[in-house]
Amino acid sequence: MSKPYVFITMKIPDEAIEKLSEVAHVSVWEGDSPVSRQRLLDEVQKADALLCMLTDSIDQQILDNGTHLKIVANMAVGYDNIAIPYAAEKGIVVTNTPEVLSEATADLTFALMLTTARRIVEASSFLRNGEWTSWSPLLLAGQDVYDATLGIIGMGRIGEGVARRAKGFDMRVLYYNRTRKKHAEERLGVEYCELDSLLKEADFVVVLTPLTSETKGLISTNQFKAMKKNAIFINTSRGAVVDEEALYQALLEKEIWGAGLDVFQQEPVSTEHPLLQLPNVVTLPHIGSASIKTRTEMALLAAENIIAVLQNKKPITPVC
Ligand code: NAP
Ligand code: GLV
Ligand code: GLV
Repeated sequence: MSKPYVFITMKIPDEAIEKLSEVAHVSVWEGDSPVSRQRLLDEVQKADALLCMLTDSIDQQILDNGTHLKIVANMAVGYDNIAIPYAAEKGIVVTNTPEVLSEATADLTFALMLTTARRIVEASSFLRNGEWTSWSPLLLAGQDVYDATLGIIGMGRIGEGVARRAKGFDMRVLYYNRTRKKHAEERLGVEYCELDSLLKEADFVVVLTPLTSETKGLISTNQFKAMKKNAIFINTSRGAVVDEEALYQALLEKEIWGAGLDVFQQEPVSTEHPLLQLPNVVTLPHIGSASIKTRTEMALLAAENIIAVLQNKKPITPVC
């Protein structure tokens, strides 16, 4: 029997390609930007398995082209880029990469909290631009992270990682989640709060829900108005969970103090984007899980999911 065919939509760590090559013919899109729609349609037609990225839109048309496609393995924990109900209907397995990226993403979320609160990016540019002429008491003064109140919206795997880090900074941690997490309350000493109360009390509001029809635009004008004037808003989930226009207005009108963003509604974000023009916003190019070790583990997990399904075994981390 001929070997199955696996198409990978971007260069991934060699270890994962080597693993897949033991059981399949593997082809990798070598471009630096996402594979074109037409090439993806053509490849899917030949493929038994697709290893894809969050930048690939795996919609009905793509899935319909996969006449013998068995699995779509997303190299991400979020899977809002994939038409899950349709894949389930067609019996195509979809997998993601939970757990292996939780700590790296929690680190990055905490880094954004510290960076935004202590104006690190602004301070670094200030020095490099030759503006540092004297030390002075309120020069680049920011907000304290230590002992502040943190509100986490979406207390899942990454949310819990952020809460654990916050405890080391003696923070009071509030959370809002679709379902109450009693075990997290006991283990981590976090307090459940309705969304409105969380927004009113938190000095840092961190969003870590997935993007779904329920969470799209969850944080908008009224939510920013409810926040404290000194509040720092952090988004490491998905851009569309937040109404960016409302965030821009809230920052401009000083309804909130600052924002740290790793994700945007439209990625890659243009340098003309209004949010990039504000000094009190720290912006990153969606690097939440971007450590070498974590990205390697994500690629290996995606590969292992594919190998399992090609060998008629259960996938390790199925979404459907
Ligand atoms: P997770 O373990 O599934 O946690 C998500 C949490 O959000 C769950 O506790 C879930 O509650 C809650 N939730 C879902 N819908 C909600 C709603 N409508 N209202 C309130 N809470 C809701 O996922 P995770 O591994 O922590 O990842 C979270 C998200 O982070 C991913 O989906 C992805 O979009 C994003 N992410 C971004 C990066 C990055 O590079 N910036 C990296 C990794 C992940 P239930 O318990 O009720 O399901
Ligand atoms: C990254 O954003 C992920 O969902 O893994
Ligand atoms: C600052 O450097 C201080 O010594 O307080």
